Amino acid sequence: MFRITLLFTISLVALSLANQDDYTGYKVYKILPKNEDELKTIQTLIKHPQVDVWTSSKLIGHPTVLMVPPTIDYQLRSLLRVNNLPYYTLIDDVQSTINNEKNEQATARRIFSDRSGRISFKQYERFDTITGYLRNLTNLYPNLVKLINIGKSYEGRDLEVLKISSGGNGNKPAIFVDGGIHAREWISPATVLYIINQLVENYSENSALTDNIDWYIIPVINPDGYEYTHTKSRFWRKTRSPNGSSCQGTDANRNFDFHWREVGASSNPCAEDFAGSKPFSENETVALSNFALTLKKNVKLYLTFHSYGQYILYPWGWTSALPDDVDELDTLGRNANTVSGYKYTVGSSTNVLYAAAGGSDDWFKGVAGVNLSYTIELPGGGLSGFDLPPSRIEEVVQDTYKMVKVFASYIEEKFVNN
Ligand code: ARG
Ligand code: ZN
Repeated sequence: MFRITLLFTISLVALSLANQDDYTGYKVYKILPKNEDELKTIQTLIKHPQVDVWTSSKLIGHPTVLMVPPTIDYQLRSLLRVNNLPYYTLIDDVQSTINNEKNEQATARRIFSDRSGRISFKQYERFDTITGYLRNLTNLYPNLVKLINIGKSYEGRDLEVLKISSGGNGNKPAIFVDGGIHAREWISPATVLYIINQLVENYSENSALTDNIDWYIIPVINPDGYEYTHTKSRFWRKTRSPNGSSCQGTDANRNFDFHWREVGASSNPCAEDFAGSKPFSENETVALSNFALTLKKNVKLYLTFHSYGQYILYPWGWTSALPDDVDELDTLGRNANTVSGYKYTVGSSTNVLYAAAGGSDDWFKGVAGVNLSYTIELPGGGLSGFDLPPSRIEEVVQDTYKMVKVFASYIEEKFVNN
């Protein structure tokens, strides 16, 4: 009898870890560190396998936001109190925030109903709509765009890169852009779609950028996760592949084969930053990296969009050492920031956020030879930071596009002979 009870208890625990579809009783805490001691405590908190880090930074005065399941809430609060770390409760019940956001989404969807094959920036689009839009562009602008299949996601969705190129032979200096590597960061795919929208559908204004530069753009590199956040579990971050435990998914941005799992990445399959069973264990990271290697000679700039926190980050994420060309990386990042209405913090990801190996930015620079490689953490919004209201999408994506143009102009100046 005892054994049965024990077994039952264990399986219940396993179940509650594996099933995060319901966020009732989950809490979100916000901490604003005022000194080095408080920052140190934060560094240990964010390593807790059951704490979900929504945003964090090594800089004094920059927020750390953590989502905590009810099972460890008491333990975490005690830790905060013992360490004298002031915090406040940002969200008392995560599920009710999700419900509110759902209503907002539904309203946006009712008002701005899908025009087939078109895209709007007044709602967060589903993966099928995004794919439909890209395919539609190939019909409307056959001389400007091409859709390249680079593989399939774990659940079998097509991973497709849009190549945008107008003058020349399509073998020009290139910019590689991706979004949606982390499923819940919805503003990321929206931003990348807006870049596509401007380059393709506003060609008259942006033609210099596609005449001189080839663009390779993929708005949602982790479509399984993205869809899962729309249908099941709003704060899902990882891919959806089985990972040899009762939990699912790998943090694709810890899965790249460059100093893999050396730091800031978990070997616990239930952790949000699980690095995968091996480097490039995920279809999505394999597809992306193999394709990028075929373009190795051309790609001069890599931009990967995440949210949130308003950071422009450059390598390295695996070491606090700075790359040789840090001055160039830093200057370009700062120049981009000057045109933004938001205030971005610019720096190396280890020094500004936290050390985390296996990221796509480090791999592009360290392996694919793309020296100018950036992770852009877009602005947060709403209550959670991830639920930037649909009514604010336009403003954010337009602001970001201004920064993208600064990055692109630099590539033009440096690599295009006029
Ligand atoms: N928020 C991003 C992440 O956690 C930042 C990635 C920065 N780059 C890096 N190589 N650590 O994945
Ligand atoms: Zn992210």
